[in-house]
Amino acid sequence: MCLTIPGKVIKIKQKNALLKTPNGVRQINIGLLSRVKVGDWLLATTDFAVKKIKTKDAEEILELLAGQKFTETKNVSPKFKQILQNAQIKNLTKEEIIYLFRTEGQEKEALFSEADAVRKENLKDFICLHAIIEFSNYCTNNCFYCGLRRDNKTIARYRMSVPEIVKVADEAVNTIGYKMLVLQSGVDKWYTDEMLVDIVKRIKARSRCFIFMSVGERSIDCYKKMKEAGANGVLFRFETSNQKLYEKLHPEDSLKGGFKNRLHLLQEMKKMGYYISSGPIIGLPGQTAEDLADDILMMKKLGVGMVSMGPFVPCDNTPLALEPHGDVEFSLKMIAVSRLVIPKARIPVTTALETLDPQNARKRGLQSGANSLMFNLTPAKYRNKYKIYPNKFHGRDKDLEDFALYKGKESWEMLTREFKKYI
Ligand code: 5AD
Repeated sequence: MCLTIPGKVIKIKQKNALLKTPNGVRQINIGLLSRVKVGDWLLATTDFAVKKIKTKDAEEILELLAGQKFTETKNVSPKFKQILQNAQIKNLTKEEIIYLFRTEGQEKEALFSEADAVRKENLKDFICLHAIIEFSNYCTNNCFYCGLRRDNKTIARYRMSVPEIVKVADEAVNTIGYKMLVLQSGVDKWYTDEMLVDIVKRIKARSRCFIFMSVGERSIDCYKKMKEAGANGVLFRFETSNQKLYEKLHPEDSLKGGFKNRLHLLQEMKKMGYYISSGPIIGLPGQTAEDLADDILMMKKLGVGMVSMGPFVPCDNTPLALEPHGDVEFSLKMIAVSRLVIPKARIPVTTALETLDPQNARKRGLQSGANSLMFNLTPAKYRNKYKIYPNKFHGRDKDLEDFALYKGKESWEMLTREFKKYI
């Protein structure tokens, strides 16, 4: 089912019009739009026209959607149809989001297919690749879920030197062709603010790329300096929007204002002009569907450009080692609903999902609303030490890399347009 297929108006009678779409002719109500005439192209839900579009855009969308198989509208409930219609014209409510979380069978497939269509409509068929370089696994935080937590004495720790980091970034951009880098570490103050600034400056001096910093809680001043040095985005998850749950998972941090501090930092980063990537872990012990609906609404409220979330994967030698992992299907629903709520967001299939379902996660994620991937470029000798959770997926796919790292001027210009506010 697609509720956004363009159709051409072939006849008008008062508030109703006959719309010709690739699936046939149907009657819709045009009461929400003004001045509709025969020959206009409209985007319509099952019953209502919601937007007038240019012929050129209509043709482009139809071309993109050609060959797409949509679930039959008649096999879904009126409530489901209504929610998908609502998603096109207003923000979904928490209750509506929870309804979508609970879909099964035909409705679940229709949700995925709708999210896929919304992704195509907004972002076409580009898959964006991000190269992630995990440059240190030291961490002063003690998060209950994370294998890098300070109290985990069982893992071998490593730090990459500044020249080493710059060299890997150089190769990623200038040899392979990546344009988006994520520099990630635990909260590791061994790297002074000046060193982080130096890393950003040196990479920017030799490589034309966008840089996301993922270095956790640092001072506002440090984030300002990194921005001035040329960093474009931050990847900083709020982990859960439920403050009580957050405090359970970060008891020490909470004494220092943890949850509020994290949100405050995210808001400050936004004010500084960073492109924000944030989101929750899905399936944390004690987390409810309500919490996850709030998480999606929080991403929307924070104005994230990139949705960053993935299922919980229990890790040995952490307090949550024996807890069950997050659910793959639920994670796909989170991707799909996030796509409906934040239609233009970058939504990557994250490594945690690929870890739980190495065969299918990538494909299913990309067919359920996701539009990008994270490829790991941490040097092999360090990679297995970055154990946020066990069996971490490190896959890179040469064909995808070639296809998605669309080299050349046009693609760079596309990214520049998207990131113009963050340069
Ligand atoms: N399972 C899934 N995600 C995790 N992260 C940390 N530990 C886990 C885990 N066990 C995520 C957190 C962190 C990001 C870098 O990795 O959301 O912000």
